[in-house]
Amino acid sequence: MSKPLNLAIPLVAGTFLGTWMVSAAPQQPQPVRDPAAEALKALPVAEERPEQKLTEHDKSDKFDWKKPAPLNPALKDQPNAGRITGFDFARDPLNSDKPFATFIEVMKKESEAKPKVMDAQGKLLAARYDLTPKFDPHVKMSRGKPLCTGPTARLANGVTWEKLAGMSAADIKKAGAFPYPSLPHPLHTNGGQVFPQMQLKMFPRLQRFDVDFDLPEAFLPEFPPAIFLQNRPELGDVSRGQVVHLGNFRDLFKEIMTPVQLEGMRLLLTPLPQEEFNLTDDRKSPQPQQGVACLDCHVNGHTTAQFHLSPDIRPQDRRFRLDTTSLRGMFNQQIHGSKRSLRSVEDFTEFEQRTAYFNGDPIRPMKKGFQEIPRTNIPHMAQAQNMFDFPPAPKLNVFGRLDPKKGATEQELRGEKLFFGKANCAVCHPAPFYLDDKMHDLHLERFLDEPGDGPIKSFTLRGIKDSPPYMHDGRCLTLEDTVEFFNIVLELQLTKEEKADLVAFMKCL
Ligand code: HEC
Ligand code: HEC
Repeated sequence: MSKPLNLAIPLVAGTFLGTWMVSAAPQQPQPVRDPAAEALKALPVAEERPEQKLTEHDKSDKFDWKKPAPLNPALKDQPNAGRITGFDFARDPLNSDKPFATFIEVMKKESEAKPKVMDAQGKLLAARYDLTPKFDPHVKMSRGKPLCTGPTARLANGVTWEKLAGMSAADIKKAGAFPYPSLPHPLHTNGGQVFPQMQLKMFPRLQRFDVDFDLPEAFLPEFPPAIFLQNRPELGDVSRGQVVHLGNFRDLFKEIMTPVQLEGMRLLLTPLPQEEFNLTDDRKSPQPQQGVACLDCHVNGHTTAQFHLSPDIRPQDRRFRLDTTSLRGMFNQQIHGSKRSLRSVEDFTEFEQRTAYFNGDPIRPMKKGFQEIPRTNIPHMAQAQNMFDFPPAPKLNVFGRLDPKKGATEQELRGEKLFFGKANCAVCHPAPFYLDDKMHDLHLERFLDEPGDGPIKSFTLRGIKDSPPYMHDGRCLTLEDTVEFFNIVLELQLTKEEKADLVAFMKCL
């Protein structure tokens, strides 16, 4: 095992950079330090003391757990020679088909399989979507990332969007023509949290050996996303182009947030042991990790489309991919989670750690290092989350409606009229927050040879242009796709122009 030694040199360099940074001007983009990852490394040192030398005893095969000295030779005559070869609570199960698989074996096998896994997912995505990004020439996300336009979904041979919207649900189902089936996790058996490449470049501790992120960067939210605080609206985006992490949050926020909010932020940024990222052998990161922070997924209080599997459903085959939701504007939200309908940010915060982190399984965390966050600290985390606001929507008035005096265009106004009228969107996404705090069953099984997801929380549409891909699993890559989706699902028969108007309206929200 010479691996950890090789990593030492960049680490030493990183430590010097870190020291140098402290005196640099705070406005400069700074080299990223990751104190959580550093806490797990020991620097190699020269062998100078006798006790540092490895002895024969240290190196002996006494420590080979596959060749233990049995308690008593008579065990030989008992089943399995008295050994447990299957699940043993003390040993990591590793999700392996081999009872004695070691971490190295599992990592080797699953790393070797990864190109095939990603190739299959790449083919699936290419068959379903046109992944060549086409950008909106005018509308941008909050920090200027261009917005992809669509629809990106590919249609079955000979079908057009108009034809599709005119077909009955049964006919669409029979023809297998519904363009938005559920989007699978690329490695459903293992499931778990997957982070986009641009994040891994900054935070390699979030890299998995068994699976990579699948969607192209152009279709994802910004990284770093902007941060708007409801207690300091006049500041606008306070991210200053940085990804907030343990090493920079105090510099960014100490003069902006209260001590309680800062403490909440600290906890939201602290990596906690998790199913795939932990210190045991039963993990999916090459190196042992302290875990994942809340804001690793909810980056800057928003999202960059990190995903995992819904913890709320069993068996494994029925679980769906879950695209990370933004935490913006949560101070107004009354139910949380696509399926869970939890009633407070506090409850969700407490629950998130047990469910996103450990899939709703209370047994494994006991070994992987579950740290129950005391209920006395949870409100601090909740308060910090409740500071994240939506991005400004300069064309909306206090009722959340378009104001022609504020520069709304004819097309946007037509879109608004449709949204609140013919298209029925406002039934489930009412102003001013474009949120009804309800779960709705869209009964997609009418169109799809899939069992259907049952009721799902309708998400807010405020700031929606900043958070592609859309729907709980990200199956709609652009806003144009969501309009085509609802045009079919709600049987609206919208014209091409009406669809464009609706999209133009949503881009104002
Ligand atoms: C794997 C990435 C991931 C991590 C890590 C994560 N979350 Fe989440 N979070 C999600 C996803 C995905 C959802 C949407 C859940 C759903 O729809 O059921 C979510 C939803 C939420 C919600 C509800 C938002 C809403 O709109 O209903 C809150 C609050 C939240 N997370 C807080 C936290 C906190 C606090 C932590 C740390 C303890 C955390 N999250 C860690 C991915 C993550
Ligand atoms: C019957 C209730 C209902 C109606 C009507 C409705 N929606 Fe939704 N909307 C939902 C639900 C539920 C979801 C989440 C579904 C999912 O994730 O599977 C959703 C999700 C969305 C999303 C994705 C949000 C995100 O954060 O990913 C967009 C965009 C959207 N709706 C736009 C519209 C538009 C435009 C209309 C009108 C044409 C509309 N909706 C009509 C219930 C509704």
